Amino acid sequence: MNDKLMLMIPGPTPVPEQVLLAMAKHPIGHRSGEFGQIMGEVTQSLKWLHQTENDVLTLTVSGTGAMEAGIINFLSPGDRVLVGSNGKFGDRWGKMSTAFGLEVELITADWGKPLDTEQFKEKLAADTEKTIKAVIVTHSETSTGVLNDVETINRYVKDHGEALMMVDAVTSLGAFNLPIDDWGLDVVASGSQKGYMIPPGLGFVSVSPKAWEAYKTAKLPKFYLDLGPYSKTAKKNSNPFTPPVNLVIGLQMALRMMQQEGLESIFDRHQRLMKATRAGVKALSLPLLGPDEYASPAVTAVAPVSVEAEKIRTVMKKHYDIALAGGQDHLKGKIFRIGHLGFVSDRDVLTVIGALEATLQELGVDSVTPGAGIAAAAKVFAQS
Ligand SMILES: Cc1ncc(COP(=O)(O)O)c(C=O)c1O
Repeated sequence: MNDKLMLMIPGPTPVPEQVLLAMAKHPIGHRSGEFGQIMGEVTQSLKWLHQTENDVLTLTVSGTGAMEAGIINFLSPGDRVLVGSNGKFGDRWGKMSTAFGLEVELITADWGKPLDTEQFKEKLAADTEKTIKAVIVTHSETSTGVLNDVETINRYVKDHGEALMMVDAVTSLGAFNLPIDDWGLDVVASGSQKGYMIPPGLGFVSVSPKAWEAYKTAKLPKFYLDLGPYSKTAKKNSNPFTPPVNLVIGLQMALRMMQQEGLESIFDRHQRLMKATRAGVKALSLPLLGPDEYASPAVTAVAPVSVEAEKIRTVMKKHYDIALAGGQDHLKGKIFRIGHLGFVSDRDVLTVIGALEATLQELGVDSVTPGAGIAAAAKVFAQS
């Protein structure tokens, strides 16, 4: 049967019908008063979502573009930066920083393990000359399903006093509490196709007053992603360039839906989805890649031993039309990832776990107790 695709990858994520319908219109002029009103509402709602009074700027880029905007607007060639790397996206921060001529010091952990916050503490405490200009960390490491302890790392950055704290919140924003103002995070990057519940195409960057101070002396070249003009035009509910107007209209609707649900409820829902997914997978005797204490609210990585990850993905897609994500880089073929980010409900998790159970039986895995996965996931839902 066609048209029953169930997208359970960590992005792009499913889009609510209300959002799809809001976008299904002729574009309107991006300099019109009508669009100005939409931009004004969206900008205020983004501040609500980011829990900040800082600028939150909307760019026509994917998440990586938002990350790049963070680097090029606030740093200069040769600047020393500490970059946390325990997966594909931490690696990307490192590669990007190197590409722009920064002096990069990587703090690494094995893929599937969280970053060691003490290593940040030591490096920052030893930097009495204040040469470290930024600490750059991925919050939810999508490639492994590990949530790094940004709150603790940020405390050490605050003790240091000089360095900017830059965070990739691409799969944590709108899924996990990240109070930008309470914590004093300087630059936070995210992308539309994740917790925002809209299609790919928009990136977001929040910028603290301290980061704007750094902007004044930052020397890396920039033009399209120069955040100065974005900030200036945002104050007039406008953009420096033509934005994807229909996507912004979709965003307006999605943010209204999020406000209706409420931040606490959104975070609670993602915790519930994460716990039920993990419980269901464990009950099927499939090993999880990362530890429970550092589990991402957006994605669960599973590392099967007795059956190939890719075989599971193939059957899940072919028989149940459920798209799961594969492993990336050296984890390709070794893991599969279940996304539970954005417009995802308890029912979706029960469906995935049920289909996974049936898939394992079909692949001849005889250790599966029929119903065990569903029972474990349902227990989480019953208790929360
Ligand atoms: C944590 C994280 N950072 C960055 C990105 C890159 O985003 P994009 O593919 O939108 O450029 C992704 C995308 O999956 C991500 O999950």
